[in-house]
Amino acid sequence: MKHPATMKALVLCAGKGTRLRPITHTGAKHLLPIANKPILFYVLDNIVDIGIREIGLVISPDTGDAIRHAVGDGARWNASVSYIIQERPRGLGDAVKAATDFLADSPFLMYLGDNLIGTGLRGFCEKFVQSDADAQILIKPVDNPSSFGIATLDETGRVIALEEKPKNPQSNQAIVGVYLFSPEIHRSIAGIKPSWRGEYEITDAIQDLLNRERRVLGDVIEEWWLDTGKKDDLLQANAVVLDEWIERKVQGAVDPASSVLGRVVVPESARVINSRLRGPAVLGEGVLIENSFVGPFTSIGDHSRICDSAVEHCVILERCQIVNLERLEDSLLGKNSKVIRNNRNPHGGLRLMVGDDSVVEI
Ligand code: G1P
Repeated sequence: MKHPATMKALVLCAGKGTRLRPITHTGAKHLLPIANKPILFYVLDNIVDIGIREIGLVISPDTGDAIRHAVGDGARWNASVSYIIQERPRGLGDAVKAATDFLADSPFLMYLGDNLIGTGLRGFCEKFVQSDADAQILIKPVDNPSSFGIATLDETGRVIALEEKPKNPQSNQAIVGVYLFSPEIHRSIAGIKPSWRGEYEITDAIQDLLNRERRVLGDVIEEWWLDTGKKDDLLQANAVVLDEWIERKVQGAVDPASSVLGRVVVPESARVINSRLRGPAVLGEGVLIENSFVGPFTSIGDHSRICDSAVEHCVILERCQIVNLERLEDSLLGKNSKVIRNNRNPHGGLRLMVGDDSVVEI
C-alpha cells in the first residue's frame, strides 16, 4: 500500500566524491558541512518530514564507517536506520539491488545523499501516493543537460522518455536525485544491462517501466537544487543555505571591541575578540575569532581559530587555524588545516605542506 507510514527510504551514500579530493580522501562527501551541518542530515530531515521512519543507508566499504558513526541508529531523527553495503560503485540501479532485502515489497523514496533541495517533499510524496504510478521523479531545468539524466514530459506531467547524460539532449529537464518507486522497479532493474560507463543506471530501469507501459510521473521543482559535487558548488550551497535558513543567535562571549552584524550564529562556547562578524555566517562550537573580520557566507567548523585575518565566502571545517591572512575568500579548508602567513622571513618563499589532489591559488 502506498502511504508514507508504510513506505521506506533508501539513501545512497556510497559515491566516492572524486571531484572533491583531497577533502574526500579522508571523509565521505555526504558528511561535508553546509552551514556547519552535514549534507546528509538535511536529506534525513526531509525524509522524516514526510513521515517515513524506516531508512536504509547504502554505504561503501571505504567511507561507510564514518557515516555509521555520524548517523548511528537514527534515534536523532526518531527513525530506524539500517546500513547496506554496496561493495563496488556500479550505479544507482545496483545500489537498489544491494538493498533488495531491506526494501522487500515496499514502495520507497530513493534519495541521493549529496543532493540538497530548497523544498520539502510532502507534496511530491502525496502526489505519488494518490496515483497509480510506478515511479515519480523530481525534475529541474538546467543549463548543462548533458551532465544529467534527462526526462521528456507530456503536457499532463507524465514522463514519456528518459536518457542518461545524452550527447544531444531532447530537453533541459534534469532528473534531480530524488525518486519514488513502487516495487515494480525491481523487475526493471533485474532486466537492465550496464551502460557505457559500466553502471546499472536507474534511468534505464525507469525507461524500462515506460517500455512496459507503466506510468511514470514528473514533478518540476521551482526551488533551488544544489549539486555539492565540486568546491564551488559546495561554496554556493553553503551561501544559499546561510542566506535562506540561518537565523541570528549570538550566545557566545563577544567582547565590547567587537561587532556582530546581521544573521550570525555564535554558540555559547565560541569567543569573539576585537573582531567584526558580518552575516550570514555560522561559527561552530569552541571557535575563536580574534583581531579578525568574518564576512558573509562563511561557515567555520568546531574548534577552529581565526586570528589577525579576514575571511569571506568560505567553508572552513573543524580544528583549522587561519593566522595573519590579509584576505581569504572562496575557499574550502579540510579538517585540521593551517593557513598561516609567516612574517618572520618576509623575503622567503612560500612554505607549503599540501596533500594529494590539493589546489593552491596564490
Ligand atoms: C545521477 C543520475 C542522473 C541524475 C543525477 C542527479 O548521476 O544517474 O540521472 O540526473 O544523479 O544528481 P551521477 O551523479 O551518477 O553522475
